[in-house]
Amino acid sequence: MNTTHLILEKDIMRSRVDDRLFSSFIEHLGRAIYGGIYDPDDPTADEQGFRTDVIKLVKALQPTLVRYPGGNFVSGYDWTDGIGPRELRPARLDLAWRSIESNVIGIDEFYDWSKKAGTGILAAVNMGTGTPHNAGALLEYCNHPGGTAWSDRRKANGHQEPFNIKTWCLGNEMDGPWQIGQLSAADYGKKARETAKIMKWIDPDIELVLSGSSAPSMPTYPEWDRIVLEHAYDQVEFLSLHRYYEKVGSPEDFLASFWDMDQFIKTVCATADYVKALKRSKKTINLSFDEWNVWYMSQQTPHDWQSAPALLEDRYTLLDALVVGGLGITLLNNADRVKIACLAQLVNVIAPITTVPGRGAFVHSTYYPFRDLSCYGRGTVLVPIVKGQSQETSFGDAPLVPVAAVLDDAGTTITVFALNTDLDHVADLKLDVRSFGSCTLTEWSVLAGTDLTKQNSAEDPAAVKTVQKTIPEQSDWVLHLDPASWNVIRIGIKK
Ligand code: AHR
Repeated sequence: MNTTHLILEKDIMRSRVDDRLFSSFIEHLGRAIYGGIYDPDDPTADEQGFRTDVIKLVKALQPTLVRYPGGNFVSGYDWTDGIGPRELRPARLDLAWRSIESNVIGIDEFYDWSKKAGTGILAAVNMGTGTPHNAGALLEYCNHPGGTAWSDRRKANGHQEPFNIKTWCLGNEMDGPWQIGQLSAADYGKKARETAKIMKWIDPDIELVLSGSSAPSMPTYPEWDRIVLEHAYDQVEFLSLHRYYEKVGSPEDFLASFWDMDQFIKTVCATADYVKALKRSKKTINLSFDEWNVWYMSQQTPHDWQSAPALLEDRYTLLDALVVGGLGITLLNNADRVKIACLAQLVNVIAPITTVPGRGAFVHSTYYPFRDLSCYGRGTVLVPIVKGQSQETSFGDAPLVPVAAVLDDAGTTITVFALNTDLDHVADLKLDVRSFGSCTLTEWSVLAGTDLTKQNSAEDPAAVKTVQKTIPEQSDWVLHLDPASWNVIRIGIKK
């Protein structure tokens, strides 16, 4: 029998979790905006045309921030096209996704949507075709109280109060040949630094994310990260990471994606810390994992010059959801350095939520692990002291049962997230929480099943969902985890 012993010590903590670790992403891409969050013809649409059924599903996920407006889209986007009277807004070619952008939704409308959905915004500025000056103008429009040209334009457009968007991405994947206005590391580093200076002069309270390597498979990785940081270290707070996983080999390898993500994070931290040493800096650069998910990138089909085409509409299986859960465990266990993370994306486009024209919206398997992490992963991450088996995978020798544990802010509940990556066997999880005093198991929810290919659909929206397990006799604190299962175990601490 495979047994994992997990000891949690009340005084051995990794880090407080930044609430921004549970963020997501909505890009002007496919049906994310048009037909996703916005559809004035939908029966659930509110007075602004926002789908209230989608808002309800988003609210249950509690994303702290939603990254906007891209992604690749932002690198060709003129944000001024999306403000002011709608009849004057131009339709444009979006070169990133070969689509037509109507500009019906812009920053004002997205801000309204974010308030309705109970989220904040992680805004991105255009570092492709955009200039440092344009980026400053957008920030002035969003955050300056008034009495200047751009802030008064915001007021004229219906928003008297500033948006106060406090976290900003300096462009997106600027190392990629697919990026509009791709730059060399040195050119991007200098442009980002000058943009950052302007932005912080306008609003000194903002925090900035520098674009890191777009993927570890890039030939420039991790050299890109070193160079851009050497140029802009003093001006930014975060370096970005992006990583998508796709099942290309065995399910066992795919399930070990969490281990690959862990190594990726450690390498980028090491690179950032090298630059810290080089600069004799006292400041530590933290990480913004602002795109992560499962994405069947190799299966995407191009659509030319349509408005809101159905792009990147992956349907997720139970196996995909288990992978997402594993990635969430890695993010939590690196919460000392990863402060922002965005599940990419949120609606219709590689998303946990899909809308079906005229037939409502449903959630995918991946909705559940993200919801569990977002609802129960807030607080302080405990260092998991683990003795358990590992298995050889294409990402190296990976734990068979990865775990993460979080103590909530009230100090009354520990949540353990555990993924049994063994496809065929039950794994025993033996919990030792003695240092917390008298404790009880209060809840155990599981996402599992014998058919890992199962997925939700409009016809069968609940084919994959979490179920509550009966809490076993607690004399020995051993839980039998189903083969291939995502487990959320809640432990009450008696005061
Ligand atoms: O999330 C989809 C795309 O993936 C984003 O636009 C881009 O940043 C990444 O390559």
